[in-house]
Amino acid sequence: MPRTVKEGSYGFKKFKDCGVQSWYMTSQQGAWKASEANLNYAKTVISSVKSSGRLYKNGLGMIASENIVSPMVQDIVASDLHGRYAEGLPGKRYYQGCDDFDTIESLGIDLAKEVFQAPFANIQSTSGTVSNIGALKALAKPGDDITAVSTADGGHISHARMGAVGLRDLNLTTYPWNEERMEPDVDAACETIRATKPKIALFGQSVFLFPTPLKEMAEAAKEVGATVMYDGAHVLGLIAGGQFQDPLREGADVMTGSSHKTFPGPQGGFLLSSSEDEAFQRRLNNAMFPGVCSSYHLHHVAGKVMALAEFKEYGEAYAKDTVVNAQAFASALASEGFDVLAEARGYTASHQVLTRHGELDSGAGAKAAARLERAGIITNMNMLPGDTKAMTPSGLRLGVQELTRVGFTSSDMEEVARFYARVLLHDEAPEAVKRDVAEMKAERQVIRYCFNDEGRSGYPE
Ligand SMILES: Cc1ncc(COP(=O)(O)O)c(C=O)c1O
Repeated sequence: MPRTVKEGSYGFKKFKDCGVQSWYMTSQQGAWKASEANLNYAKTVISSVKSSGRLYKNGLGMIASENIVSPMVQDIVASDLHGRYAEGLPGKRYYQGCDDFDTIESLGIDLAKEVFQAPFANIQSTSGTVSNIGALKALAKPGDDITAVSTADGGHISHARMGAVGLRDLNLTTYPWNEERMEPDVDAACETIRATKPKIALFGQSVFLFPTPLKEMAEAAKEVGATVMYDGAHVLGLIAGGQFQDPLREGADVMTGSSHKTFPGPQGGFLLSSSEDEAFQRRLNNAMFPGVCSSYHLHHVAGKVMALAEFKEYGEAYAKDTVVNAQAFASALASEGFDVLAEARGYTASHQVLTRHGELDSGAGAKAAARLERAGIITNMNMLPGDTKAMTPSGLRLGVQELTRVGFTSSDMEEVARFYARVLLHDEAPEAVKRDVAEMKAERQVIRYCFNDEGRSGYPE
């Protein structure tokens, strides 16, 4: 039970096992005495947050859509901005108190234009999906046609009728797919675009090993008056670092993306365009506000701006090292005996590696992911070409961007591939491998490619 305190005094109690502090203030308006039951909720949240932090600190985070943020970004995300509001654009606000935030957002727009070499940038989006919803709102109206990569071939749910495309009530036609090359069949996709005459020709995937051969398909789209949209959610950091492709110069009018996958910022999104047309740019801005956001998570926007500043300094090296590590990891997995996809193309040109662990739709990917987690290796099961069931796919999609940020090198990636082999091929107890994983990770805690003179860890203490 909470300690009862005299009127006019206050105290606090610390839960022994997780450090929750609860204050008992009785002398002020709004004073509260918390019940043990409600404090237990706090205890559960805090201990779970800590436990999740420990999992990643001691383990190998290899989910391709995740990353860790720099110490500076962590500080900003936990700042007072978290509780503040801004609507509109810098200098055109509906609330007072935004002058400092205006400085931040204006700087961020300039940095995003520079980092992505884009004449237009909106940095308000709260996620990659929100960027896509905003772009679809700006570029099409209900009942219009859209072409995109199907989810079975690696397209994202927001490109599908079950997601943002359906929310906007667009008619979806998917591109024919070249399974061997893991990209749209260019000639057939051009035919699809010419036949469909979509309002939007959307490119980009969640399973994204190789750059999209964009130029020819973008030309076909332009011929029929379509706007070309490229979803770079996964590969935005590689694009900005000059290591993947350059969609805004290969025909994309609009590029969307998450700010927290290979781009190493806090969770959020970007909306970028190659267009200099002010009316078009206004449409994009209006699609974000008042279109799909009211206030827009100012702490995360400020964190994005810090990540952009860090990226200007270190982004190219980080992107290069990420791709080198992914290629080294893929080759090492293949040498260990794994079925790694796209061997003929050198396995990958991004941060992702795909592995197949059994028959199509067998659930072998799910089983592999669960067993790896017992060894402290965090991954996700993924549908591979030919799989039809999202919950029982045959494969894994692996990403090396987080490990790269804490200093893993290509020879380290060979050791990581050996951990995979011990767990999945040689039937070693995952718990035994977990000890070796933790030992390796203990020496790789400092986060790099960011302003971090003090050598702070990327993980909680
Ligand atoms: C291609 C693609 N677009 C959009 C998204 C959505 O991003 P977010 O999770 O930031 O909403 C993802 C997420 O994985 C993705 O892979």
